[in-house]
Amino acid sequence: MKIVVTGGLGFIGSHTVVELQNEGFDVIAIDNLLNSSESVLDGIEKITGKKPIFEKMDLRDKASVQNFFKKYNDVQGVIHFAASKAVGESVENPLLYYENNINTLVYVLQELKELPNANFIFSSSCTVYGQAEKMPITEDASVQQAMSPYGNTKQIGEEIITDVAKVTNINSILLRYFNPIGAHPTAEIGELPLGVPQNLVPFITQTAMGLREKLSVFGDDYPTSDGTAVRDYIHVVDLAKAHVVALQRLLNKQNLEKVETFNLGTGTGSSVLEVINAFEKVSGQKLNYQIVGRREGDVIEAFANTEKANSVLGWKAASSLEDSLSSAWKWEQKVRNKQ
Ligand code: UD1
Repeated sequence: MKIVVTGGLGFIGSHTVVELQNEGFDVIAIDNLLNSSESVLDGIEKITGKKPIFEKMDLRDKASVQNFFKKYNDVQGVIHFAASKAVGESVENPLLYYENNINTLVYVLQELKELPNANFIFSSSCTVYGQAEKMPITEDASVQQAMSPYGNTKQIGEEIITDVAKVTNINSILLRYFNPIGAHPTAEIGELPLGVPQNLVPFITQTAMGLREKLSVFGDDYPTSDGTAVRDYIHVVDLAKAHVVALQRLLNKQNLEKVETFNLGTGTGSSVLEVINAFEKVSGQKLNYQIVGRREGDVIEAFANTEKANSVLGWKAASSLEDSLSSAWKWEQKVRNKQ
């Protein structure tokens, strides 16, 4: 069975290619390499013994998307990761985000609807909930006004898919990720942020590695147990496996609606200080950090109610925060020692 993975050489995409290949799927990975590297293919091969078919292309080029789906008109489904995800950059350059995240989605759906097996998995985000009123967050919590163009592209993306599903043969699953972290336990693939990391865990591992002087902890006056903000950190391998399960649900026609939505998290909230402590424990490193003011746009807390994913998808995150941080640290050390 042939499955297309857009953004297949990116952080979550590459881990999903590995899990798909482990389950016997033939993968065609698309990537424009703007925020990834072709060497990821070697990492995937080392883990699975096989490279996916790789098509270097930019989904913003409509003609390329059309040609691609003419060539691969026997695919059974598309997992769509290709998108930009830096919140700050999206505020500075909203049109880039609308082009990268919305145009590409539209072009892919335009071709997919012509195919007999129009199964579609979409990378969404818990950012659509904003600051939810109740924790843990269930899928029926209301979608709030997006705080950034990036967040808006995820909301609009979900709406586009929902509108399109009403009038086409496309069946979709929207996966709302909480905070994906970690790396493959083999340390053959992992996260490679360009420049200064914006996300907590890569910033921690780079600081421990001596690449950054110290971590700034954004705010310790939140109404949480220790005053720092709370998130649901999920191991990227667990997340990748959820994509395979979701895809199989569509392939086996087990979906109850044309568009289904699932939260993907662990169900446990961890504060920034808890993450730092857990990192120090698993790495044996003392982390240099200081408390600074809150970061604009951050919510106080967000963690998932995982009941629907557990019972309907039959998927549950297996790794602990410690496992995730330990894999992130192993990966960081491997990447830096190679350079
Ligand atoms: C961020 C995005 C989210 C996106 C996700 C993609 C924002 C507001 N949200 O999630 O929309 O889907 O990345 O990966 O940017 N922190 C520090 N110091 C740092 C970095 C982070 O204290 O140097 C804190 C943050 O304040 C937050 C927590 O760590 O409380 C997690 O931050 P981060 O990893 O950036 O993820 P989110 O902000 O939750």
